[in-house]
Amino acid sequence: MLIFTTAAELRAHAEQARAAGRRIGLIPTMGALHEGHLQLVRTAAAECDEIIASVFVNPTQFNNPDDLRLYPRLPEQDAAALAPAGCTALFMPAVAEVYPQPTVLRFDFGPLERVMEGAHRPGHFNGVATVVSKLFHLARPHAAYFGQKDFQQVAIVRQLIADLSFDLELVVFPTVREADGLAMSSRNARLSPETRAAAPLLYQVLQQAAAQVRLGVLPAEVQQHASATLAQHPLFTPEYFEVADAQTLQPISSYDTGRPVVLCVAAHLGGVRLIDNVVVE
Ligand code: PAJ
Repeated sequence: MLIFTTAAELRAHAEQARAAGRRIGLIPTMGALHEGHLQLVRTAAAECDEIIASVFVNPTQFNNPDDLRLYPRLPEQDAAALAPAGCTALFMPAVAEVYPQPTVLRFDFGPLERVMEGAHRPGHFNGVATVVSKLFHLARPHAAYFGQKDFQQVAIVRQLIADLSFDLELVVFPTVREADGLAMSSRNARLSPETRAAAPLLYQVLQQAAAQVRLGVLPAEVQQHASATLAQHPLFTPEYFEVADAQTLQPISSYDTGRPVVLCVAAHLGGVRLIDNVVVE
């Protein structure tokens, strides 16, 4: 596995791979890799010839300085995990390499970013779109792999690809979970034994809510019940629970036959912010 720290190296490598007719798969990450990330890499390895993973804790997408400061960084461990998963090139740049000058570029994704993560983390998707665009330009992927765990991020990246005519296939991989249902996340490493034991409630609440949606319980009632369940728990502070249209991500007040629904939740658990979602077809 090659390791690049400069944009020029990555760009040259991608040019070479393209010239040789090799299919490039890109897996953007912020590191502290877990099985969810590695399954994205393995999927890419099964479909592409050149598997480029990036590990970069992108400062522009953090709206909370403590979250950025405390974000787990495990570069050696990440590099060791990527090669056996099929990664052929790892891009691990410093902040100054990705942002040689402070960027004032602003994206506006309209209604898509006025809800959920976009509404609760001002500037977050601007930072995501900026870094993802840079990675697309540098790695020139034929396919880019993203996790459904970050449902709204996928919707934003899909719109970014369409609006800026990036010539690549977006591959979305289902959420990988621990045995007890907790969605894998780099931030889980910051949970204490006590909060880790409580964490599966998030997915349980989503599953209960999904069952209610299937029974036709009205969105407002589903939302109220789920939020109350989380709020009643002594360790959880819910931030939002939304019943939304899975395509537009806008909250719904009733169900439309044939339109999938997504249930999205964000909650704080002992100082760690967790998100999860479930799609109901
Ligand atoms: P990060 O949180 O490291 O996630 C990298 C990729 O792995 C994302 O596409 C995410 O959705 C996916 N992923 C994370 N946990 C997963 C799980 N449990 N199951 C399946 N996929 C999972 O998302 C980011 O980084 C950043 O915003 C990034 C896109 C790299 C831009 O900085």
